[in-house]
Parts: sequence; C-alpha cells; structure tokens
Amino acid sequence: MHRSRILGIGMNVASRVVTNDDLAKMMETSHEWIHERTGIEQRRWVAPGETGASMATKAAKEAIERAGIAPTDIDLIIYATLSPDFNFPGTAVFVQRNLGLKEIPCLDIRQQCTGFIYGLSIADAYIRTGNFKNILLIGSEVHSTGLDKTTAGRDVTVLFGDGAGAVIIGRATDDQHMILSTHIHADGSEAEILWTEYPASAHDPRISEAAMAERKHYPSMNGKKVFKHAVTRMPQAIMEGMQANGIKSIAEVDMVIPHQANLRINQMVAQMIGVPPEKTHNNIMKYGNTTAASIPICMHEAIELGKIKPGNLVCLVAFGAGLTWGSCFLRY
Ligand SMILES: CC(C)(COP(=O)(O)OP(=O)(O)OC[C@H]1O[C@@H](n2cnc3c(N)ncnc32)[C@H](O)[C@@H]1OP(=O)(O)O)[C@@H](O)C(=O)NCCC(=O)NCCS
Repeated sequence: MHRSRILGIGMNVASRVVTNDDLAKMMETSHEWIHERTGIEQRRWVAPGETGASMATKAAKEAIERAGIAPTDIDLIIYATLSPDFNFPGTAVFVQRNLGLKEIPCLDIRQQCTGFIYGLSIADAYIRTGNFKNILLIGSEVHSTGLDKTTAGRDVTVLFGDGAGAVIIGRATDDQHMILSTHIHADGSEAEILWTEYPASAHDPRISEAAMAERKHYPSMNGKKVFKHAVTRMPQAIMEGMQANGIKSIAEVDMVIPHQANLRINQMVAQMIGVPPEKTHNNIMKYGNTTAASIPICMHEAIELGKIKPGNLVCLVAFGAGLTWGSCFLRY
C-alpha cells in the first residue's frame, strides 16, 4: 500500500480588497463591531471576469510548480466548493480545461468549510489504493456574488471572502513527509442553521419572486449555534486525530492550522486544547472566511513565513455547514 503526502501548495485570492469601512458604506455595520467579534479587517471580492475556476487555476499552477511535476502528471482533480461557478457541470472540468488537461476524471465535492479536509481524505484514500498517483485538490469559493449587501444580511455578509487554495497530493517516499490521518464527520440534524435555501430543486419553481422578496436566496445563519458547534467539534476532531496517531501531548504538534471562520473561535479552541499562539496561524484578518479555501490559503502563508518547515507535524482542523467537521494530521 502507498502512503500520500503534500508535494506542493498554491493559493490565489480575489483581487478587490473590501475593508470593514467599505462594508459600512453598504449596510449598518462598523469596523469595530466586525473586528471585535471576528478579528476580520478586510476580505477579497472578485472583480469582473474573476471566477472560482480562474482563481483555482492560478492556485493550481503554483501548486504544480512547487510540486515539481508537469500538469500532465495529474491524474485526478478534486474540487471542493459550496459556490460552484455554474449549477452544472461542476467547476473541476473548467479547471481541467484551463490547465490544458484531457480526459482525467474530475470530482466536485461540497462539505462547505470542511470541504478541504474531506477532499484530503478522498485524495489520501485514492493514493493509498494506488488508483491515482498525483491528485490536484482545490478549495475555491466565490461568496461575494451571493451575499446580501444590505443591513438585512449583515450578520453573514461581513464574514465571507473569495479565494482559492490548491495542493498536489502524491505518493510519500518516506515517513517524514506523509499524511498520517484524516477523520471526517457530519451531523445533518441541524442542517438549516447555516444554509442557502434558494434556488433549489426541492422547490418548484426553483426560485420565485416571493422567495426572493423574503431574501431566501441569500445565506442565513444562526451565528450563536454555529459558534457553539465550532468550539465543541474542532477540539474533538483534534483529540481524535491525536489519539489515532499516538500523539500524547499537543506539545508534540508543531503547527495547528484551523479553518478561518472567526478569530475568536480559533483563539478559544487553541486555549481549550493548550496550543500556544506561536504554534498556530490565522489570517482571517486579511481574507475573511473563504470556506473550502481557507485551510490551504492559511497553510500556504504559514509555509511562506517559515512557521511550517519540512518534516513538521501539522494538524489541520475544520468545521462548517452541514454540519460537518474533521481533522488531518500530516508530516509536511
Ligand atoms: C456572527 C457572529 C460574529 C455574531 O456575533 P454575536 O455576538 O452572536 O451577535 P448576534 O448575532 O447575537 O448579534 C448581536 C447584535 O448585533 C447585530 N449585528 C449582527 N451583525 C452585525 C453586523 N455585521 N454589524 C453590526 N451589528 C450586527 C445583530 O442584529 C444583533 O443586534 P440586536 O442585539 O439589536 O438584535 C458570531 O455569532 C459568530 O461568529 N458565529 C459563528 C459564525 C461562523 O463561524 N460561521 C461560519 C461557519 S463555517
């Protein structure tokens, strides 16, 4: 059986910088409110012509270059998003086309903010079985075109940003650079506490003026419930991974990269499991919550800053709508 590793990583964020003060011109909010509760200072929104696929393609090209492989070495694309460019087909085929690749399979997955961890678990399993050798895994999101930019949507709209992250997952050749474990979970009992209800095939017609008048085509969230879920599930997922890998103390872990949903959530989780500030990295201040893209974007930055070095023991952890949550432990 083969084992898998991250061979290369890339990122690309949307080009328009939108500050909290910019949002305050569109809706009743303030930099102080947003910053105090979430840590967010600015986020990126797409400019005309930028799409999930275009950002993903740029992130993929960087990941391919860093992996030292040719695009034609890729034999599967996995694309995690809650905001596909079109209703169908999935967005991975557009990235395939942009990269000039032909006939390799393209797999689109959802799983919202846990999408990247779910994607890692799929890629790892495919590498282990030998089905594929070099997998391009992407997390890419465009939220800005689907947010309610009036006061009615302010609780959700201030949180999210647009961006993409990508990794090449290939075969490990030693145990110093290897994905050690992935653990993924879901609980649909409260699926509606964070969702976008319209347009949807569950409704006929899929969208109506009445639904739009009620603003049901915009995401809605019970922030307090989601917050509580996050600070419960993320520590659980970390402990589960530690146990599976025989890691007795969090002190053995070099770096924890949490999904970037809210700085306060991540600070609380770090405190709960005893992670000191120098052993975790956050960049939600600059990018907001980019959902499936947040972990590879944050990991990319931590590598650039020298906070993650080759061979380091790294824990990735996420939670999100669904509800979904999970972790991945790896030696980078
Ligand atoms: C969204 C979140 C920051 C809101 O913080 P909160 O302390 O729970 O705030 P509340 O929702 O109780 O709202 C408090 C007040 O602020 C108001 N408010 C909401 N959004 C606001 C905004 N952007 N600007 C100003 N005021 C706002 C509310 O209307 C409410 O006013 P009221 O007391 O007059 O009714 C917080 O719940 C959170 O981060 N939850 C997790 C969200 C998340 O991570 N989602 C992604 C999951 S992957």
